[in-house]
Amino acid sequence: MEFILVTPQARTHVALIQLNRPKELNALNLQLMGELRDALKELDENEEVRAIIITGNERAFAAGADIKQMAGKTAIDMLNMDQFSTWDQIRKTKKPIIAAVSGFALGGGCELAMTCDMIIASETAMFGQPEIKIGVMPGAGGTQRLTKAIGKAKAMEMVLTGKFMTADEAEKQGLINRVVPVELYLEEAFKLAGEIAQMSPVAARLAKESVNRSFETQLDEGLHFERKNFYLCFASEDQTEGMNAFVEKRKPEFKGR
Ligand code: CAA
Repeated sequence: MEFILVTPQARTHVALIQLNRPKELNALNLQLMGELRDALKELDENEEVRAIIITGNERAFAAGADIKQMAGKTAIDMLNMDQFSTWDQIRKTKKPIIAAVSGFALGGGCELAMTCDMIIASETAMFGQPEIKIGVMPGAGGTQRLTKAIGKAKAMEMVLTGKFMTADEAEKQGLINRVVPVELYLEEAFKLAGEIAQMSPVAARLAKESVNRSFETQLDEGLHFERKNFYLCFASEDQTEGMNAFVEKRKPEFKGR
């Protein structure tokens, strides 16, 4: 891996992925995205890992897709490059993913953070979809996920002007979970990931799948999907352990079985 660093932490069951092209503000070139996809696939299959954090550095989470890599391309080059199939695979990760964002989260960087399940931001974080300023528009989910998160009027303004949103505003608008001082954003992400990692991995997977389903279905179908996943929890040892532990007034020990 050249452009990302992966640190699984067996004790906490949390894995950290750090985007690592600092000089280019973590611009998301094809190689970095391919490495990210491969790392997530591996962590998704690793039974020791129960939650994943994606972060950048203090200055930038990621300043978007790599403009230099795209600048000379034609539509057919872009079609053949098929960069978004990588994003589709990232979206299919089953384990909970937290984006720990500091500094710029722009264009594809903002879209990557929104592809994660939760976002913890430092007070210096800036979110934006500035593609309009370079003659294009968001292509990795920005028009869809941002609109669903903050509503049409605010999303339209960001997408059509390229204006950035501060971390405080992003929290007010419901785009992110919370803002913390810059020296604490990673620690806060680890705290949240650690908390999730203590839950049943089976229930977490099914719950994540069900929440995500709400973006794709009508209520009736979503409720039906939720109910099936709820019943499926009862096939797990974790359900027995969780409920027995409650009755016996002790802490459950979930195994992901
Ligand atoms: N692609 C390639 N290189 C990038 C980059 C990007 N998205 N963003 C920053 N860089 C590079 C700069 O070219 C510069 O490299 P050099 O030192 O070799 O010149 C280096 O990172 C540092 O950047 P700046 O000197 O520009 O730093 P700054 O502090 O003055 O400005 C910034 C920071 C406001 C984030 C500015 O870099 C910027 O506007 N970046 C582009 C943001 C953008 O438009 N993102 C959307 C990309 S398109 C996209 O993402 C499509 C999609 O939906 C998938």
